[in-house]
Amino acid sequence: MYGKYWDAFYHRTYASGKALWDVPPEQSVLEDQRVFGSAFEGVGTVADIGCGTGEQSRYLARFYSKVIGIDAAPRAIEIAKQHTPAANTLFEVGDLASPEFAQQLHQAHGDMNVYMRGVLHQIREADREQAAANLLHLIGDKGALYLIEVGKNIRDYFRSATNSFHELPDAVQETFISNLPPHGVDEEEIHRLFNQKQYRLNQHGTGYLNTNLLLRDGTAVKIPAVFGLIARN
Ligand SMILES: C[S@@+](CC[C@H](N)C(=O)[O-])C[C@H]1O[C@@H](n2cnc3c(N)ncnc32)[C@H](O)[C@@H]1O
Repeated sequence: MYGKYWDAFYHRTYASGKALWDVPPEQSVLEDQRVFGSAFEGVGTVADIGCGTGEQSRYLARFYSKVIGIDAAPRAIEIAKQHTPAANTLFEVGDLASPEFAQQLHQAHGDMNVYMRGVLHQIREADREQAAANLLHLIGDKGALYLIEVGKNIRDYFRSATNSFHELPDAVQETFISNLPPHGVDEEEIHRLFNQKQYRLNQHGTGYLNTNLLLRDGTAVKIPAVFGLIARN
């Protein structure tokens, strides 16, 4: 289900442009690295789950011995592969919400760190526990998980920013709204999903996700976000 929907999205959007969250690493993973950097020192493999066109995976490949970019959309993976000559990077199609997802990946690559930007909030509530269990399975004993997600206050943000959003071209407004479901993730949910059994939420907080959208006055549109850093006790 995720693959079909997202594949159609990538075919449509990348025929003539980019998704709004597709920003250079300096505006995304590099900022996140200040939080996850030392926690990712335990293992050399990093999975970028929901990697999209692989922008962050390409950055991570400079620091870790193996990077696996995974996305449910075959078209996103195709584009990622076209851009990536790095020998230490693999791109694969995979569905985080599938019960078999983590087992196969972990069997092939062992414990790994996981980087995830803007994916859990796109997973249906009913699939989130499975997705969380998969992520914990991947990090195993030695890895760590860093995720940054659209915050639950996204609705309030839209409401308070309505005047500014109306300055965006219609097509952009439409993309923005149709691809950001009004339900996000909050710190409480991160705590519930990941602070369990042998795993601990070592850091969490609020921040923002950069987009490539600009208002008419040149102000960059930033989406409120929550982040978490999880590892084994
Ligand atoms: C908002 S985009 C973020 C892309 C990328 N992480 C970034 O920050 O540029 C969400 C990505 O998650 C992928 N995705 C959605 N559901 C997924 C699932 N169940 N399994 C794997 N990837 C999924 C989508 O195809 C999309 O590329």
